Amino acid sequence: MSNKIMDVIQWVDSRLPVIEFWEAHLSKYYAPKNFNFWYFFGSLALFVLVIQIVTGIFLTMHYKPDAALAFASVEYIMRDVNWGWLIRYIHSTGASAFFVVVYLHMLRGLMYGSFKYPRELIWIFGMLIYLCLMAEAFMGYLLPWGQMSYWGAQVIVNLFGTIPWVGDDIALWVRGDFVVSDATLNRFFALHVIAVPIILLGLVVAHIAALHTVGSNNPDGVEIKKNKDANGIPLDGIPFHPYYTVKDVVGVVVFLFIFSLVVFFMPEMGGYFLEHANFEPANPLATPEHIAPVWYFTPFYTVLRAIPNPFGGFLAMGAAIVVLFFLPWIDRNPVKSIRYRCALYKVNLAVFIVAFIWLGYLGMQAVTPLYSQLALRLSEIYFLFFAVLWIYSSQRSVKFYIGWFLVFTAIITGYDLFRVNEEIADLTWKTWIIPVAYIFVTLVVAAFTNLDKDKSVPERVTA
Ligand code: HEM
Repeated sequence: MSNKIMDVIQWVDSRLPVIEFWEAHLSKYYAPKNFNFWYFFGSLALFVLVIQIVTGIFLTMHYKPDAALAFASVEYIMRDVNWGWLIRYIHSTGASAFFVVVYLHMLRGLMYGSFKYPRELIWIFGMLIYLCLMAEAFMGYLLPWGQMSYWGAQVIVNLFGTIPWVGDDIALWVRGDFVVSDATLNRFFALHVIAVPIILLGLVVAHIAALHTVGSNNPDGVEIKKNKDANGIPLDGIPFHPYYTVKDVVGVVVFLFIFSLVVFFMPEMGGYFLEHANFEPANPLATPEHIAPVWYFTPFYTVLRAIPNPFGGFLAMGAAIVVLFFLPWIDRNPVKSIRYRCALYKVNLAVFIVAFIWLGYLGMQAVTPLYSQLALRLSEIYFLFFAVLWIYSSQRSVKFYIGWFLVFTAIITGYDLFRVNEEIADLTWKTWIIPVAYIFVTLVVAAFTNLDKDKSVPERVTA
């Protein structure tokens, strides 16, 4: 580096410790040497966050948060503003890309036990980020003021109305009116462009600060800080910069390649990223035939619809998200990585992923008797994943396993008896076997086999 540049850096550094920061978080921050494909998604999430903020700023320059003008202002951006179509498509595709990246990032956490001691707080901040992202995406979706923006918001805000006694007042307070209206659009705009992004940025800083305090986990789930050389440097660590900055650039390039394909060739993604009904302006007098949220919300939407009682559905949906916060205390097994965990965890996680994707698929479909039964069964499996994990993640007696199998079977059957009627009796009892077979394998079979036995974890990382 030339002397002049070094002088400037020294000048700044004596007033603000930039070199110390650079060393602590990049050039002398030691990360495990065995990061793999799954470790791309944290930096990609950061990258997408920046894309969303930058494109959002430019969209805001031309967008009008007014119920009479919003739809037309988006059309104006698409047709008349120079490169407006590109900026809008990057932003709309970026929203879906964000969720793809974050879901894969969370899945990595589940695979390698990254939420466990000492990283519980990283996970909690991650979950708060996830909540904020959902709020951000939900409020952003109202802004184009299309039919699905309008009716989607109407349905979701009405959910607050199902809360006993205070529900209607809360829904009114959220909307600022008796129906979704200009007042709602204005406040959602304010929250979408400033309030939630500020919180999101703060949470991301906290997330990474917590990560850098305890250090990264890795695909072996071995704590690299336990084996250090004479200088206190982890034997299995390498400096984040340049090794992982370069690796992450590769991830960004591959990501941009796929992202550009979507932006330029299929920005609507067949109605999954931009729903067809949203190309019509909002009409408070005409409800679309089929109201469905965007794909990233649909697993939870299905949990909501699986319970006929509206408040019950609202609670189940909330519980499906809240339970994730408690994962560090639900999974009590100190073995972190799936590489060394029992076969049961592998099967259980695979079933959970299938159930989650299937729930997402059902949320996009119109309700049929079969689909509503499946929605309930898959929701049961979603929750049972956590329940059985709590049981087998700590060594238990056969009696304990069988006892819980009986308890869960009684709960499932009891709820079926409570809700069944002539119309759904056949489907109810045919699908009853799905959750019961699941707990039979994960609890009864596990009690009598080696399915729940972990492998031994190596002292050092393996590759
Ligand atoms: C805006 C969204 C997010 C950003 C920008 C972000 C960023 C990051 C970054 C840069 C890392 C370090 C690199 C890596 O391990 O991949 C990381 C690690 C981590 N993140 Fe996130 N994250 C986000 C959302 C989430 C969410 C929603 C969760 C889970 C609920 C989560 C859980 C974790 C965990 C547990 C780690 C530690 C992983 C390990 O050491 O194995 N993050 N995050």
